[in-house]
Amino acid sequence: MNSTTESLNIEQFQDDLINWFEAEQRDLPWRKDQDPYKVWVSEIMLQQTRVDTVIPYFNRFIEKFPTIEKLSEADEESVMKAWEGLGYYSRVRNLQAAVREVHESYGGIVPNTPEGIRKLRGVGPYTAGAILSIAYGVPEPAVDGNVMRVISRILLIWEDIAKASSRKVFEAAIREMISHENPSYFNQALMELGALICTPTSPSCLLCPVREHCQAFFEGVQDQLPVKTKKKSVRHVELVAAVLKDDNNRFLIHKRSDKGLLANLWEFPNVEKSKLIKSKNILQDFLKDDYHIEINLDKSFTDIQHVFSHLTWDIEVYSGQIIGTVEENETLKLVTEEELTNYAFPVSHQKMWKAFLEL
Ligand code: ADE
Repeated sequence: MNSTTESLNIEQFQDDLINWFEAEQRDLPWRKDQDPYKVWVSEIMLQQTRVDTVIPYFNRFIEKFPTIEKLSEADEESVMKAWEGLGYYSRVRNLQAAVREVHESYGGIVPNTPEGIRKLRGVGPYTAGAILSIAYGVPEPAVDGNVMRVISRILLIWEDIAKASSRKVFEAAIREMISHENPSYFNQALMELGALICTPTSPSCLLCPVREHCQAFFEGVQDQLPVKTKKKSVRHVELVAAVLKDDNNRFLIHKRSDKGLLANLWEFPNVEKSKLIKSKNILQDFLKDDYHIEINLDKSFTDIQHVFSHLTWDIEVYSGQIIGTVEENETLKLVTEEELTNYAFPVSHQKMWKAFLEL
């Protein structure tokens, strides 16, 4: 037996954990059945996004794309639109690419082995373990930040969870502890415990079903775990953007590059302030040079801040009129107010549009 789990009564721990999950689990839409496709969609959405935020997105997504076949055949624009506002958009591009591969190369069946499933785009160790255990009952660990928090306290593990290499320590511990009778409930119970009881600050130890197994509680150090070193502070970028209308009440929108931040999403024309020469008509000059568009600009009508994990945008937003014609192409379009609703925009640009409509 490994040193981390040697003082744990594993069978009793499994029973206490799973019994609690059976009694107390939340009624969540992805728990209605074990369809591997739905488990997959839910786990991708739940990465970096809270359960409450995910629920309506999951329901709408599954209504629109109920099967692997439907998501495979869907056009990318409509899939992006269904993800609009959830953030981390590479998740949905990878999901559709991987679902297409399952449809075309695996006869529509999600692989049920670690080796098979890990080949799919966007399926890392956490997602692989979650799908395998929840949909197929395979006893694989599914270690995310919440599970590391719970396990670090139960087993008194002082590894820095900010380090990528720590995940393996937790996976090894879970391989020793996981229930082989019900790996699905075991993993989901750890996630649920992390969400409801074993929270980052002020954990509700007195309500905890596995308190008797918890070494951190025993030693009174639950508030010191997990160890997580601070990430370096985020970078600030200042932008100028404009909602521009032509004589036919159409608005100018631009498709972002297919690489990098918010790839393939649509946006209102914008530029980093640092890229502009300090002149009065900065935005006008930029649009003339880069988009060959002449505009009249009004004064700025809102400031928008958007915080990404690694970056903050501060955007000064203007309205304006387009003078003359615009040469439209694949990435530059004039659309009516109604048509605009069919395109997926980042949250910051949705906010600009909302503020514009309220002018
Ligand atoms: N977080 C990650 N996966 C989850 C799941 N299946 N249920 C609830 N929260 C989760």
